[in-house]
Amino acid sequence: MIDTMRDTFTRIFGTNSNPIPFFSPGRVNLIGEHTDHEGGYVFPCAIDFGIYALAQTRPGRTLRLYSMNFDGTSSPAFEAAYDDIHAKISGPRSWVNYPLGIVSVLKTHGFTFTSGLDILYSGNLPDGAGLSSSAALEVLTVRIFSDLLGLDIDGVKAALYSQEAENNFVGMHCGIMDQFAVSMGRKNNAVLLNCSTLEYSYAPLELGNCRIIITNSNVPHSLVGSEYNLRRTQCEEALSDIKKVRDISCLCDLSEDELDEYSYCVKNPVNLRRARHAVSENARAKRAAESLKAGDLAKFGRLMNASHVSLRDNYEVTIPELDVLAGLAWELPGVVGSRMTGGGFGGCTVSIVESEHAEEFVRVVGREYESKTGRKASFYTTGSADGARKL
Ligand code: GLA
Repeated sequence: MIDTMRDTFTRIFGTNSNPIPFFSPGRVNLIGEHTDHEGGYVFPCAIDFGIYALAQTRPGRTLRLYSMNFDGTSSPAFEAAYDDIHAKISGPRSWVNYPLGIVSVLKTHGFTFTSGLDILYSGNLPDGAGLSSSAALEVLTVRIFSDLLGLDIDGVKAALYSQEAENNFVGMHCGIMDQFAVSMGRKNNAVLLNCSTLEYSYAPLELGNCRIIITNSNVPHSLVGSEYNLRRTQCEEALSDIKKVRDISCLCDLSEDELDEYSYCVKNPVNLRRARHAVSENARAKRAAESLKAGDLAKFGRLMNASHVSLRDNYEVTIPELDVLAGLAWELPGVVGSRMTGGGFGGCTVSIVESEHAEEFVRVVGREYESKTGRKASFYTTGSADGARKL
């Protein structure tokens, strides 16, 4: 990958130098979905797929960007002066809003840039599949700025700045999970993160004779921005109803029993279902991480299945295609657990499958999914990877 990129770098930026390679993984969330924005636990891991970059400083205060995935071979690099980056751009080059958002946030935090940068990106993460290509692009860009311009930004800060860029510049009100996972991921481990305190620990991803299979429904999650923001608003309304009688700072401060006790305060029944999902999913994420540590993979799998049911019935972010994928997986031999992963409204499921049944899984799920939905699924087998870094 990097070698092909070197030729393109020379062609696009017209320099014959030796740019520095970087990589940021994507992520898959094993359990703890839609809990990050409610102050709960998440349990993701960084994956082998991600985005590569070649980057080099240049004289002046201008940033030049080019993506081998999005920009046509005849397009020149996108160019912007650091001082002119204020608002999002629209149109075919809107992918640049992620790196531009990073520049804007770093400026807000008082960082100054001693030189310009040329950055070439190329990734193998399927786009719109809920595997965090946006977070990968953001954190990768922070790493490049930090390493090449000497900004000394650690992994947690890189995640926080990236989330800020996505919230305030791109306009997607995501939580911290994706950026944290791609920044702080560790090979052979999942990260258990408390999204309210940012305390985290690594749990060895010991899957024995099993492997992680990601199945892409190939339904791009285009509605994700508005529907996602709506779910957040519904949770905020439930929280504000409960706060009138109980002093809490986020929904995940409550146990499931406590939410039950205070359910009479929540005026809108839809909002109550959203809150039930967040609170029950938070409990599941903690129990799942404990089960994995105790070597009880079967229980981990059942909790994954329960997570899907709650996302389907209470949070309502699955779509028929994701329900078909999870339902097919639950019926098959050797499947420990399966659920939708990421924001929902399209994207992928994550399944833990015994290796000896992996081939059958791909064959049967692929065939039945196509016959039930008319769509073709794609399958990725992945291990867990280290976070964003200079190569
Ligand atoms: C998206 C968001 C995350 C998280 C998940 C759902 O991926 O970016 O912050 O909320 O959805 O768990």
